[in-house]
Amino acid sequence: KFGHIKLAPDDAILQTAIAFRNDSHTDKVNLGVGAYRTDEGKPLLFRAVKEAEKQILADPATNKEYLGIDGHLKFNKLAQELLLGESSSAVLEKRVASVQTISGTGSLRIGAEFLSMFFNPSCVLISRPTWGNHITIFERARIPVKYYPYWNPKTKGVDIEGMINALNDAPEKSIVLLHACAHNPTGVDPTPDQWERIADVMARKDLLPYFDSAYQGFATGSIERDAFAIRMFISRGFQCVISQSFAKNMGLYGERIGALHIVCRTSEIADKVLSQLKIVIRPMYSNPPMHGALIAAKVLEDPALKNIWLSELEQVSQRIIQMRRVLLEELVRIETPGDWTHITSQIGMFSFTGLSPAQCENMIKKWHCYMLTNGRISMAGINSRNYQHVARAIKDSLQI
Ligand code: LMR
Repeated sequence: KFGHIKLAPDDAILQTAIAFRNDSHTDKVNLGVGAYRTDEGKPLLFRAVKEAEKQILADPATNKEYLGIDGHLKFNKLAQELLLGESSSAVLEKRVASVQTISGTGSLRIGAEFLSMFFNPSCVLISRPTWGNHITIFERARIPVKYYPYWNPKTKGVDIEGMINALNDAPEKSIVLLHACAHNPTGVDPTPDQWERIADVMARKDLLPYFDSAYQGFATGSIERDAFAIRMFISRGFQCVISQSFAKNMGLYGERIGALHIVCRTSEIADKVLSQLKIVIRPMYSNPPMHGALIAAKVLEDPALKNIWLSELEQVSQRIIQMRRVLLEELVRIETPGDWTHITSQIGMFSFTGLSPAQCENMIKKWHCYMLTNGRISMAGINSRNYQHVARAIKDSLQI
């Protein structure tokens, strides 16, 4: 019955974590999957999360009943306010349909399915490059995938003219997938002025923005600054779709907690959209898991816990920014050929090094520095003990 099935390739990102784990070399470095690590190279359990969990377990009202199809309602509201701002007109006018989702990936999958069923999209335009899973998610939802240029290898920055031209040429009823902040994999975001230009062309062409927000507060340490693009689009009157993840900014990777928000024109439309989102979700997984939602809601709801979380988020983003500086200084100190200032000008979890696939192979095979073969390294994997090793590995790989 199943003998005809061919072996599928490993996932390019998640496989790096397995390869790292299976490597017994003492100098191995994990620069692959985007998961935060402390300066000791350990996963971080946020103090605010630990405290919230303690309170949840101590609460006699805590149970393990089913959530509704749309998840934990208080979480949905708090997540919406964190993303859009409490004073957002869309929030105040109750025209955002929000559902709890299985983290960012689950949110994208539900969002894509919903758009495929109800928006009749001609295509989705995705940045080149992007997070690999974006492409498969939209393909699985039967939405044709097209691309807009994003990365300019010469400037190691955003190819804003290429992007604007592609948006200008986009067919009617196109969805445009945008990374809300800390673009994955490049680490380069449009400037506020460039975001306005993107909004201008999208308004003129009536394109539908779909924001993937996986790093709010993680990129710059500021919840507000990292939500700038989304909030600006909404204040300009755009309707949009937003996938939100709490994996990185609360360190809740394995809890799979996120949300999908659809900003509509009126609250009546939002109610109808919400009712249909439930119809999309029910036959997929019935209703989402509870624990991550309880944690995130508690952290966002309790002012003391929220403050602890925000300061931890600031520390986490600062450590990454500091590692960028340290790595750049070391590359310069050992006279690595070329200009490496993009290491510090890029933001968020990742740096797009510009290394070729063969050079990346050398990083992995010879230096045990696990990274993606498109040149992406996770800055979170760099610490005060391994930055010299990583710099030497980069310098050596440039000879390939
Ligand atoms: C990454 O890009 O490394 C993360 O978003 C993890 C993932 O699911 O791919």
